[in-house]
Amino acid sequence: ENEPLILGIETSCDETGVGIVRGQTLLADAIASSVEEHARFGGVVPEVASRAHLEAMVPTIRRACETAGIKPSDVDAVAVTSGPGLAGALLVGVAAAKGLALSLEKPLYGVNHLAAHVAVDTLEHGDLPKGCVAMLVSGGHSSLLAVEDITDGVLPMGSTIDDAAGEAFDKVARVLGLPFPGGPYIDKAAQDGGDRLYVKFPRGLTGQRDLEQHRFDFSFSGLKTAVARWVEARRRDGEDVPINHIAAAFQEAVCDVLTRKAIDACKDRGYEHLLIGGGVAANSRLRAMAEERCTEAGIAVRVPRPGLCTDNGAMVAALGSELVRAGKAPSPLDLPADSSMPI
Ligand code: KG4
Ligand code: ZN
Repeated sequence: ENEPLILGIETSCDETGVGIVRGQTLLADAIASSVEEHARFGGVVPEVASRAHLEAMVPTIRRACETAGIKPSDVDAVAVTSGPGLAGALLVGVAAAKGLALSLEKPLYGVNHLAAHVAVDTLEHGDLPKGCVAMLVSGGHSSLLAVEDITDGVLPMGSTIDDAAGEAFDKVARVLGLPFPGGPYIDKAAQDGGDRLYVKFPRGLTGQRDLEQHRFDFSFSGLKTAVARWVEARRRDGEDVPINHIAAAFQEAVCDVLTRKAIDACKDRGYEHLLIGGGVAANSRLRAMAEERCTEAGIAVRVPRPGLCTDNGAMVAALGSELVRAGKAPSPLDLPADSSMPI
C-alpha cells in the first residue's frame, strides 16, 4: 500500500470525530457526541461542547487507531478542521492535531469544514466529478457551493440568509413537541402517513423579485414562523394538531426550495453533478425528490450514506488525503482556529 495514511480530527460543533483513511479507503470513523448534553437546552451550548471535546479527544483518537489497526506513528499526515465552527470547540481539535503532528513529526493540514463535507464523498464514490455543485444542509449551514477541484477549495454560490435548513427542522420539531434534534423525527412523522399537500407553506426567496438578488440563497425563518402560527391557531381553537401532516407539509416546502435552487445552480455552472451533504442530506424526502428532479434535468446526484453526511472525522481525513495525494503544501504549526473562516 503506497497510498497515504491520514488521520483527521473534527471538533467544529458538538461531535468529536476522528477518522482514519488510506487513500480513499475508510479504515475507522470514531465519534463521541455531546448532543445529549445539549438536548435540554434545545441547541448546542458552545462552552459545554468545548469541555466535552477536551474529555473525548484522546480516547476518540485511541479508539480510531484501534479500529484501523494502526499506531499513531504509522500516520503520514494529520488533518484537522480549522474552521468555520464554534471557536472554543475548534481550538480543542486544532491543539490536539498540532500536538500529534509535532510529536510524530508529520505534516499538519488545516481544512475547511464545508470542503470536508464535500470530500467525504470520495470514500463512498471515489474521485469527485470534474465540476459539481455541492449543497450542504445541516444544523449549522445551508450552502450551495461550486466545486471545480476540491483540493483548490470551494466557491460559495449562495447560502441561507437566516436559519439553516437543519435549524428550521429542529425549531419546527420543537413547535410540534418532537425531541431534539428534530430532523429525524420530522422525517419519521412525515413518512408515517403525513400528507405533503395538507397545507401549502411558503417557499422562501423563490418570488421573481427575490430571485433577482437571492437566486442561490435560502431563507427558512418565514417558513418556520408560518408553521408556528398555523399550529398556534389550531391550538387556540382547541383543535388537535395533525403532527404527521404538518411535518410532511413543512418538509415538502424545505425540500422543494432546496432541490429547485440546487438544480438551478447546476444549470448556471453547466455542471451535470449535484452532491448533497450535511445532516439534512439524511432526509428521505430530500433524497427522493433530488433523485427524481435531477434525473429529469439530466443531473447525476451523489449523496454519501447518512453516516458520512453528518459531522465526523472521516470527512476531514478524506480531504486531508486528497490534499496529500495532490501534493499540496501542509499548514504551518501556528495554524489558527478560524471560527468565521471564509469558504
Ligand atoms: O451535519 P450535522 O450532524 O451537524 C451540523 O449541524 O453541522 O446536522 C445535524 C442537523 C440537525 O439539524 C438535524 O435535525 C438534521 O441535521 N437532520 C435531519 C435528518 N437527520 C438529521 N433533518 C431532516 N431529516 C433528517 N432525516
Ligand atoms: Zn457540518
